[in-house]
Amino acid sequence: MDKHQIPTVSLGISRRIFLYRSAMILGSGLLAGSAFAAKQGCRPTESDILGPFYRFDAPFHARLASPDEPGDRLVLTGTVFSSDCRTPLPGALIEVWQANHAGLYDTNKPGNFTEASTFHLRGKLYTNEKGQYEIETIMPGRYPVPPNLLGLEKYAGLTRPAHIHFRVMESLHVPVTTQLYFKGDPFIANDPWAGHKPSLAIDLKQDGKLRRGIFDVVLARGF
Ligand SMILES: [Fe+2]
Repeated sequence: MDKHQIPTVSLGISRRIFLYRSAMILGSGLLAGSAFAAKQGCRPTESDILGPFYRFDAPFHARLASPDEPGDRLVLTGTVFSSDCRTPLPGALIEVWQANHAGLYDTNKPGNFTEASTFHLRGKLYTNEKGQYEIETIMPGRYPVPPNLLGLEKYAGLTRPAHIHFRVMESLHVPVTTQLYFKGDPFIANDPWAGHKPSLAIDLKQDGKLRRGIFDVVLARGF
């Protein structure tokens, strides 16, 4: 394994944990929420910067990566909860975007959120009636912070840990913009964003040719 490769947890106990968590996700939202609340201490999902590579109005689809997209296949599942970490939120809108396996986005115009060109490895989707979602994609590659980005000059060249950007909104809650990271990534520790937000890093499990991860999101109530 490359020294910078993100590890997957071996089977055995972790496999049983994965199956247990999968069962919770597939079960009732109430039960899943209870377990999630107990594990996390029930707090809204931490926010993170939007980043310079967000682009507005990506198409609706949950399969961000076509079958021939280079990279390790990744399936993310999760539930969007209200602030009690128990009540699932159907119809929550999730926007997701990421770099390809080589660490490149589909734009080389950072900060141009309304750039009109073909969207790649981006999409938006709604949670189902149980507040659940599933995204099929590939593992994102790491990339260095570009030079000459206003406000980020001192971080230019710093390699960011692998991450996937999320923006989640629901009509009665406060939207959250955040980034998902992967436990074991050696670039998390010195990252000015991920380094202080361990709650945003998830485990991955190998399932045949797929990596699977669970990322639940908790939104703060807006009133
Ligand atoms: Fe990014």
